[in-house]
Amino acid sequence: YTQSARSQLTPTFLLLGASGAGKTSLVSLLQKQSSHPDENEPQPAQTRTSQIINRVSLYLPPTISLGSNKYRSDNDVSLKDREPLPYTIIDTPGHGKLRLESGLSQISNPALRGVIFVVDSSVMDSSDSSVSRDAAAYLHDTLLALQRRTTGKGSVKGKPPIPVLIAANKQDLFTSLPAGAISQRLQTEIERVRVSRAKGLSAVGQDADTNEEDDVLGGGGEEKFTFKLLEEEYGIKVDIIGGAVKGEEAGKGVTRWEEWIGGCL
Ligand code: GTP
Ligand code: MG
Repeated sequence: YTQSARSQLTPTFLLLGASGAGKTSLVSLLQKQSSHPDENEPQPAQTRTSQIINRVSLYLPPTISLGSNKYRSDNDVSLKDREPLPYTIIDTPGHGKLRLESGLSQISNPALRGVIFVVDSSVMDSSDSSVSRDAAAYLHDTLLALQRRTTGKGSVKGKPPIPVLIAANKQDLFTSLPAGAISQRLQTEIERVRVSRAKGLSAVGQDADTNEEDDVLGGGGEEKFTFKLLEEEYGIKVDIIGGAVKGEEAGKGVTRWEEWIGGCL
């Protein structure tokens, strides 16, 4: 394959999250780890803030098991002899103004297999509510875009649901909340966003036949928003796993994120 054909065919993961969460750091680490004998790609330039999307070609090491291998026995030799598996991660800018055009627009990518939403775990406690609210609002918009993708708004048929990994990064910092607490926090904040957006929708006075339900995250029901509700209503599964890309515990949890990727393949 030529390079461009490769990037169109390989399973693709979208890297989203607020500015400074650690997306470019993560993709750089994975690239360093997955250098393949066939390829000598230059390292991506580490800028302070990403301005454009960056497609990075990676290989999943043979030690990571694949979702399609789930039911094979451990002593199946084909599992261990697997070649490093090519996949692509699209790194996106997290800055507010660039999110929509560069990041969320990629949700329609036909090769998309999963979304990795990176959060900075050290800014998720309630003392800095504006930052955690911003992260939650971005996650809300991401999940709603994925929900619309499955319901097939505007197209003839919906597409299969895309799973989401929340990578609770920067677990090395002492102000970090553990993954479970971040999950609770995000669900609470998303519920706030959902309520205020739903009010906005009814104020606009949509027609009864535009299927308003699918325009509200998790559907238009009375229940409070939870990730579980999203899975029950739309089949979109959300997992949260803590880790650290930099700092004293650099690399911690990264294998578990790769295992999540493998599970989508
Ligand atoms: P945008 O491109 O603006 O959307 O940000 P980004 O998500 O790509 O963040 P980036 O990778 O540039 O990281 C932002 C800062 O966080 C850098 O100074 C990183 O060194 C730092 N950082 C990333 N991961 C970790 C981590 O696990 N622990 C600590 N302590 N710092 C981290
Ligand atoms: Mg970046």
